[in-house]
Amino acid sequence: MATQQIVLLLLLLAAPHGLAVAVSPTPIINTTCAALAHSPNFTLHVEYEFCVRSLSADPVASSATDARGLAAAAASLTVANITSTELIIADLVKNLVSCLSDYKELNDMVRRGLHDIRGGRAANASKKFLDAAESDVPSLCDLILIEGVAKRNPIDQENQNAYFLSVMASDITQLMLDSHAGSPKDPS
Ligand SMILES: *[C@@H]1O[C@H](CO)[C@@H](O)[C@H](O)[C@H]1NC(C)=O
Ligand SMILES: *[C@@H]1O[C@H](CO)[C@@H](O)[C@H](O)[C@H]1NC(C)=O
Ligand SMILES: *[C@@H]1O[C@H](CO)[C@@H](O)[C@H](O)[C@H]1NC(C)=O
Ligand SMILES: *[C@@H]1O[C@H](CO)[C@@H](O)[C@H](O)[C@H]1NC(C)=O
Repeated sequence: MATQQIVLLLLLLAAPHGLAVAVSPTPIINTTCAALAHSPNFTLHVEYEFCVRSLSADPVASSATDARGLAAAAASLTVANITSTELIIADLVKNLVSCLSDYKELNDMVRRGLHDIRGGRAANASKKFLDAAESDVPSLCDLILIEGVAKRNPIDQENQNAYFLSVMASDITQLMLDSHAGSPKDPS
């Protein structure tokens, strides 16, 4: 009995969400979406499922009784959706610009470190690569993207590579420095 009540409760709790997905379309949404998907009258088509899902999820479209009402609902949905996409893009751009500026500084540092290695200045190189590895530029970039409005990170793989490569370069430079310790040419 208790189990049945719990099952019933779970069903009730799940119902609103389940209904929203599985709801059968209003007749006008159904016929309109069928036409949009298959009628040769249209040069551009939209999948029946997408059409039904988008319109049925919208209260205004669901209560539309004619083509004009449905057109107005579809147009408002499009405006709202594109506006939201604009905000997402703007946020991504803002955060990527911030990543770009940090990466330029990081790049500058590792280039100067490479220059030090080529010039035999192991201690200088080691310091720069350690600073680069500890800079947190890649993880900071991950963080601002994931916490941004867009909640997505198009460069997580690149950030990971930058982190591991700079740690690797830093550690190996440290090895080089240790093996050169005591060398008279070494400035440290
Ligand atoms: C949707 O329309 C098609 C053809 O217009 C019809 O065959 C189908 O039964 C309709 N489905 C619903 C859920 O109204
Ligand atoms: C397609 O166009 C023809 C001719 O204008 C019209 O009679 C028919 O109802 C249209 N069909 C749809 C699905 O809009
Ligand atoms: C944009 O439209 C899609 C498709 O209907 C929908 O899944 C999504 O939630 C909409 N996004 C916003 C922010 O309205
Ligand atoms: C290398 O490090 C030494 C000691 O910290 C410093 O005096 C020197 O200016 C550095 N050289 C370069 C090219 O950074």
